[in-house]
Amino acid sequence: MISIIGAGKVGSASAFNILRFRVSDVVLIDINKDVVKGEALDMMQAAPAIEFDGKVKGTNDFSEMEGSEVVVIVAGAGRKPGMTRFDLINANSKIVKSIVKEVVRYAPECKLMVVTNPVDIMTYVAYKESGFKRNRVFGMGNILDTMRFRSYIATELNVSREDIRALVIGEHGDSMVPLVDYATVSGIPIKDLLEKKQIEKIVSLTRTSGADVIRLKGATTYAPTVVIAIMVDAVLRGRNRVMSVSTFLQGEYGFSDISIGVPVILGKNGVERILELKLSPEAKKQLKKSVSIIKDMINKLENNPLIEEFPSKDCMREE
Ligand code: LMR
Repeated sequence: MISIIGAGKVGSASAFNILRFRVSDVVLIDINKDVVKGEALDMMQAAPAIEFDGKVKGTNDFSEMEGSEVVVIVAGAGRKPGMTRFDLINANSKIVKSIVKEVVRYAPECKLMVVTNPVDIMTYVAYKESGFKRNRVFGMGNILDTMRFRSYIATELNVSREDIRALVIGEHGDSMVPLVDYATVSGIPIKDLLEKKQIEKIVSLTRTSGADVIRLKGATTYAPTVVIAIMVDAVLRGRNRVMSVSTFLQGEYGFSDISIGVPVILGKNGVERILELKLSPEAKKQLKKSVSIIKDMINKLENNPLIEEFPSKDCMREE
């Protein structure tokens, strides 16, 4: 069983994807009791048509997450057109901190997956606040960026999206690092098939893709909610998928005390292993920039008088 905290569009659609892909039963939790109950009811009414037997419960009672193998935090404000993800930092860090306290109380053995933006900072907050080992706290960001990167490569080449393999690392934000050197079509480097200008266009579209959707329709839904289901599936079924997630670094890639997107093996224990790739000088430079942007935000957060006690004094780190 898994729990999703936050029954807005992304939380609810993620729950629905997890059910219809037959990944797990879901407890959907939100402070808005009626809405969350309504969402669960609506999903169950769809079940006979697509023949899933999974159960979904909508509740405002945090204790219902007890026994969850994975808890996904989606709650928080989403950015509006013209905003960056960093504009959400103060409001969302308070929300994430308060939810993590409930998670520690009711699901202390879970793997904690963070979706709330800015996701790298919120993953850091959740890691510090939970006291969990770092493998159990990770964020969804770069997998979504990678899907978008793959999608744009496929469109440019007019080939099946299925055959594109690629990776994006770094911040889930404007400074993300699409790794062109590791992008292939059925093993063929895209650099052998595309002109430099075409690749630059793809990289630029990947970086702005979230904002492009938000400008047009106000929020992103389909892509993030499918990615959430894929990540939950990787953990619950111990699939050891290789994907970029936001994870706490302790010296990997030369950086420490930061949560940022890097490739990992995602399985039963959450982050089973961080994969350290050989990066080109340009990718190294871009990753360093991404790190300094996130660190800057973390420092601002730690010094922000609105965010009391960061991390809370009663937080104990797990050995
Ligand atoms: C996304 O990339 O779809 C999410 O992080 C939402 C956003 O603000 O872009």
